[in-house]
Amino acid sequence: MSSTDVKHLAIIMDGNGRWAKKRGFSRTKGHEKGADVIRDITTYCATNKEIDTVTFYAFSTENWKRPKLEVEFLMKLLDNYLQKELKTYQENGVRFKAIGNFDVFSQALQKRIQETEKATKNNTKLIQILALNYGGRAEIVNSVNKLISTGKTILTEEDISSTLQTPYNDIDLLIRTSGEERISNFLLWQLSYAELYFSPTLWPDFSTKELEEIIQNYKTRTRRFGGIK
Ligand code: IPE
Ligand code: IPE
Ligand code: MG
Repeated sequence: MSSTDVKHLAIIMDGNGRWAKKRGFSRTKGHEKGADVIRDITTYCATNKEIDTVTFYAFSTENWKRPKLEVEFLMKLLDNYLQKELKTYQENGVRFKAIGNFDVFSQALQKRIQETEKATKNNTKLIQILALNYGGRAEIVNSVNKLISTGKTILTEEDISSTLQTPYNDIDLLIRTSGEERISNFLLWQLSYAELYFSPTLWPDFSTKELEEIIQNYKTRTRRFGGIK
């Protein structure tokens, strides 16, 4: 593996609503189409030798501000997705993991998340992480609280890194679709030295072909990490 490999890819999937509106559909249609794209990209990542983890931002701690019907639809979609996806995970050697705060989800959805994690835990081709009711700041605060509850009064970066929910903390490449150029409270700690790529494509139109092009672009970059190269 060279330093230009994308080991941990993170994606802010944005633009589902605009994709649907452009076609005269309800926003929920965009979310449905968006879920199909997660499957395609995950299957691709499982066959790509350099990628070992892909993290998708599926629902933020701020997304509760959306209309109740849209939130309910997204919860149902997630449950259906995980139910249908088990086959894809097993066939492609994908280990599923969720990050975020699930306490507020229905019991059925919490159970589905736990069962999917358990059923896929021995798969080794790729780790697919879904960020669900996730906020970067909340994740850091949770880590700090966990550490101080053990009696620690002084914390190191390693202490915090090792108590975050993500198994691999550092992200190599972050892609955000839909033309928006912001982080929206995604993996704040883990993104500190990530390469950023903003694509104008709306998430339901995103493809493995575009992902391959973005990875090629990433390989032309020089990651200096503060040094000189
Ligand atoms: C991303 O698409 C999906 C979620 C945040 C759940 P959006 O729903 O934000 O789509 P736009 O940004 O309104 O087009
Ligand atoms: C970010 O998209 C969250 C997810 C993709 C889950 P949003 O559409 O919620 O972000 P903002 O509100 O435009 O920053
Ligand atoms: Mg959006």
